Amino acid sequence: MGARLLCLCILTALLGYYIYTPIPEDLAEPWAVMLVSAVLRTVGHLSEAAELLGLMHYMEGMRLITAAEFVAPTSDENVTVTDTELSNVPVRLFLPRRAPGGLRRAVLYFHGGGWCLGDAGMQGYDFMSRRIANELNAVVVSVNYRLAPPHRFPAQFEDVYSVTKFFLQSQVLSQYGVDPARVCVAGDSAGGNLAAAVAQQLLEDPEVKTKLKAQVLIYPALQALDLNLPSYQDNADKPLLSRSLMVRFWSEYFTSDPALREAMASNRHVPPESGHLLRFVDWSRWLPAEMRGSHTYRGPAAGDAELARRYPGLLDPRASPLLAEQARLRRLPRAYILTCEHDVLRDDGAMYAARLRAAGVPVTHHHAQDAYHGAITFLVGPLEQALGRRLFEACVEWLRENL
Ligand SMILES: *[C@@H]1O[C@H](CO)[C@@H](O)[C@H](O)[C@H]1NC(C)=O
Repeated sequence: MGARLLCLCILTALLGYYIYTPIPEDLAEPWAVMLVSAVLRTVGHLSEAAELLGLMHYMEGMRLITAAEFVAPTSDENVTVTDTELSNVPVRLFLPRRAPGGLRRAVLYFHGGGWCLGDAGMQGYDFMSRRIANELNAVVVSVNYRLAPPHRFPAQFEDVYSVTKFFLQSQVLSQYGVDPARVCVAGDSAGGNLAAAVAQQLLEDPEVKTKLKAQVLIYPALQALDLNLPSYQDNADKPLLSRSLMVRFWSEYFTSDPALREAMASNRHVPPESGHLLRFVDWSRWLPAEMRGSHTYRGPAAGDAELARRYPGLLDPRASPLLAEQARLRRLPRAYILTCEHDVLRDDGAMYAARLRAAGVPVTHHHAQDAYHGAITFLVGPLEQALGRRLFEACVEWLRENL
């Protein structure tokens, strides 16, 4: 009896520890957020333990989340859904069934998951693409780019770029009945990073004649130089993306070498000779006053030049789109940028909005005061949240008017 009671107490304490996450007061549906956050933390701890024991890489453990959320490609009365390949890259393709009534729009979608996790077939992403296809009568190409590990930068970028470039060819657009003037890229988190990078790179590519109409960046990661922005400091332990997980994602994008992860964790990874790039991510210049809070600007400390030489991706605008010169931003398509208050990546999106505006690009910056990183993926199933729906609807409305 005593032993059972003791077990029960221990289990309750453990459960309490997992479920309890300091939830910001203004978050809607705090219980749903706590539950999701508890599941993520549990999988995170188990993955860490499995990695310490040498059983698997941390990210392989984390991929259980992707697997648990996977749904097979299933067509419905409105949309034909297939898993196929474009330009040798796996994609989930969503084709509207209703009569086109002219040429269609198209959305190239890149899922989130820190370049390491996620799949176009996760329930939330599948639902999003299906809704966009049906409501906007748009062809949606959701790309299953290669993930780290084993694949490192620039593999992820190259996959989404090659699908986009392939799709933008006039014979491919006409095969799908797509209007060349109404194509956009979109993505959330690491996918927002890829969407921004693709939009930039297309401008430099003489082989691409079709221009994107728009870019949708949902709480994007846009720079790896300063991992102590005010949002990183204020939201280091908020759901669902902690600072340490984001550091892990960034470093895994380039390498599994723990030296880079440790340097990034202490924000000492920018070599002294690259100090001139810091002006692009200087939050005292690019962040709206209300987001700076009471922080005083102190840029990253000078890091090890050798480390940066080994992982040059660190300073590459295809990984950090915020590092693009102002002149290069000028020709970019109009942008919708969603940022969430309780998110380490908040300032990345807010600074990109400011830099695009300064370059003359039309920007709709939607800052959600009561939202956290990842909120938009909870659109369906037991984890559905009104917040996710609201953020998603705002995005769809913008696309309806701007694509
Ligand atoms: C098909 O589209 C109609 C109209 O938009 C909608 O009411 C219906 O729920 C859709 N069906 C599915 C399975 O999503």
